[in-house]
Amino acid sequence: MLNSAIETKRWRATSRACAIGTIIALLGFAATTAHAGLVAAPTAPKKVIIDTDPGTDDAVAIMLALNSPELDVRALTVVPGNVVVEQGLENALRMVSLANRCDIPVAGGAQHPLFQKLITAEFWHGKNGLANVELPASKCKADARFGPDLIIQMVHQYPHEITLLPIGPETNIALAVLKDPSIVPLVKEVIVMGGSISGGNVNAAAEANIYNDPEAAQIVFQAGWPLTMAGLDVGNMTLFTRKHLAELAKTHGPENDFMVQVNTFLVDLSEKFGSPGSPMYDSLAIGTAIDPTIMKTEAMRVEVETRGEFSRGETLANRRNEFEKNVLHGDHYVIEGLEKVTPNVQVCTGVDSERFIQLFISRVQGK
Ligand code: BDR
Ligand code: CA
Repeated sequence: MLNSAIETKRWRATSRACAIGTIIALLGFAATTAHAGLVAAPTAPKKVIIDTDPGTDDAVAIMLALNSPELDVRALTVVPGNVVVEQGLENALRMVSLANRCDIPVAGGAQHPLFQKLITAEFWHGKNGLANVELPASKCKADARFGPDLIIQMVHQYPHEITLLPIGPETNIALAVLKDPSIVPLVKEVIVMGGSISGGNVNAAAEANIYNDPEAAQIVFQAGWPLTMAGLDVGNMTLFTRKHLAELAKTHGPENDFMVQVNTFLVDLSEKFGSPGSPMYDSLAIGTAIDPTIMKTEAMRVEVETRGEFSRGETLANRRNEFEKNVLHGDHYVIEGLEKVTPNVQVCTGVDSERFIQLFISRVQGK
């Protein structure tokens, strides 16, 4: 549980007075490869901050990140989503503890979405958000900073080096941008698990992370930083099946066994609802940071629908990056040409699923 001292420091996401359009208008801002002769210089691990709502597939993603030498996990910040933030914080602490990584700061963030009532998903993630698996109590302690403040501080500490990996609703990232827009050009890139250009999972249109805080997502999508969207389009192509589970269950270790338990819960649940396997949503965002070559991406202009009777939370992609210029002539409009729009998102439209799943298995086997 968060103590009251931490609570009082928190900059809460409560200001409903500001219209979201005004907030966005106020923002107003629009790979390092080393070569040494013929021999490629060793690449330093990417510094990443994972913003998470753990969450079963968040747990899978975090374990993948913590066991991947390509990534230097500098912090976990916790956002409400799959579970309330206190439970998410407890889960994140237990995971870093399991991996013996108390050196990684774990900080709680917002208490609720910017404008929405929080929707939690124990139905999909178990009562405790971790597939009802009771991990040992954490040896690690929560960082006292407010998650968005921690993000701001680290981005300034390591300009152009931090990759943000939001795998929950984007409330914390949006709060960081709103509080300090100067971080935007200093962030190396953002790889989001969220959105879809091929239909939703909450409803026909919207993916859960975006649906849970569409205003926050729109701020993050329009901020002007390099942003990759690993959404349902690729998540639904990447199913962890019983065959993969059997492969993972051949080896043992505290993290390996935990991953078998969580994935057993997920595969059982998926089969119950008619799917042969469990989509590896959150870990695909981590996988994209580890090895971008697993993904096929296409540059598109993406907007988040923040209103819409049936489409609130949808990520609307302009696949042609242009639109018709309609000009009012008296009582009707006339199309006078086409206008280009600038893409703001690299949308993941294809993935080498089996290569990614084997990468995941190899990273947690025997750990
Ligand atoms: C996303 O929603 C959450 O339930 C998962 O953790 C994932 O981040 C998938 O829509
Ligand atoms: Ca998540």
